[in-house]
Amino acid sequence: MNTPFVYGRIAEKENFTDREQEQEQLFQSLSGSVNTVIISPRRWGKTSLVNKVAQRLVTDKSVRICQVDIFNCRTEEQFYRAYAAAILKANATVWEDFITSARKYLGRLLPSVTLVDMIQTYELSFGLEFKNNEMSYDEILDLPQTICKDAGRRMVVCIDEFQNINEYDETLAFQRKLRSHWQLHTDVCYCLYGSKRHMLLDIFNNYSMPFYKFGNIMFLQKIERTEWVKFIRRRFADTGKKISDELSGIIADRMKNHPYYTQQLSQQVWLRTASEVTEEIVDDAFRSLIGQLSLLFSNLIDSLTSRQIRFLQAVADGVTNFSSRDVLMHYQLGTSANIKNLKKAAIEKDLIDILPGQHIELQDPAFEYWLTRVYAGKH
Ligand SMILES: Nc1ncnc2c1ncn2[C@@H]1O[C@H](COP(=O)(O)OP(=O)(O)O)[C@@H](O)[C@H]1O
Ligand SMILES: [Mg+2]
Repeated sequence: MNTPFVYGRIAEKENFTDREQEQEQLFQSLSGSVNTVIISPRRWGKTSLVNKVAQRLVTDKSVRICQVDIFNCRTEEQFYRAYAAAILKANATVWEDFITSARKYLGRLLPSVTLVDMIQTYELSFGLEFKNNEMSYDEILDLPQTICKDAGRRMVVCIDEFQNINEYDETLAFQRKLRSHWQLHTDVCYCLYGSKRHMLLDIFNNYSMPFYKFGNIMFLQKIERTEWVKFIRRRFADTGKKISDELSGIIADRMKNHPYYTQQLSQQVWLRTASEVTEEIVDDAFRSLIGQLSLLFSNLIDSLTSRQIRFLQAVADGVTNFSSRDVLMHYQLGTSANIKNLKKAAIEKDLIDILPGQHIELQDPAFEYWLTRVYAGKH
């Protein structure tokens, strides 16, 4: 049976809600060839948003969209492979096209295009044999522009989890190279997005870095409570079940409007409901979800020092002034000089997010609940 809520997958069609303004803004930027950077914590909806706008952009037949996720690309070499394959795939309509264009555009670099398995997807079956020289990498970077010129079209290249390039050896040289090529591409527009705010801001907002002022920066927000209430009510109704606005609101509140978790909790509630949702069902679903996650959270806690844990507890309690002596004493955080390191470690582990105005928040609302209610009760 199809359930009316999705999480951990792209939200599209009837599963996609809201984001009207963001869609419009992104659509205008990309169709106007303005490079755009999108930043938000994981699971807030970047990939879904870009996908949604991409579908609108391709209704213009002279535009091609390339979407490539570089999450698994740990080196420059892997980046170039994934990149070349994605660019070719975006410009080919069928397999034969793909192979023809691979030969045409990468022919000099590729003694052979290895077809491992015709049935599988392009990425899996496309074995690239690069001669490992600078020249071929330059050509790959220029590939979108070369194809666009040739075919008289425009292209939007979307790169997901872009912050990963920060971890490549010689990342600065790599970034310089990307920037110097991309700024000459008159027919290609770049949409770069990812979830590590601090890393992305280092890349795009630091005037000594190559990507400084590369394009618009968009900070994607969570989806608002009123939108969740409408969405949850509609998805229950679509499947012949009922939920009040009050209880829909409670679902969103419990998850602090976090897109992934709000969908997940809604799903748990939906599965437990025969015809109409009650408060007990919502409570039960929430408890069970926290229960399911607690092993994960315990493991996470085990990987932290006790001072790091107390720092997170302080953040969960809403502490803002970490230089206060009372706070340092109460949470046993040592001297105020430690705070910088504690923050840094928590940011690097993706546990907290520092919002504009230095406000600190735990990224994961379920973890926050678990830490303050379940864990705290036992320690
Ligand atoms: N516009 C949306 N409408 C409804 N749910 C959404 C929306 N955007 C994201 N979600 C929920 O959040 C989850 C994560 O979305 P995703 O686009 O993968 O986020 P990100 O790329 O930021 O990690 C989705 O699986 C879905 O449950
Ligand atoms: Mg994503």
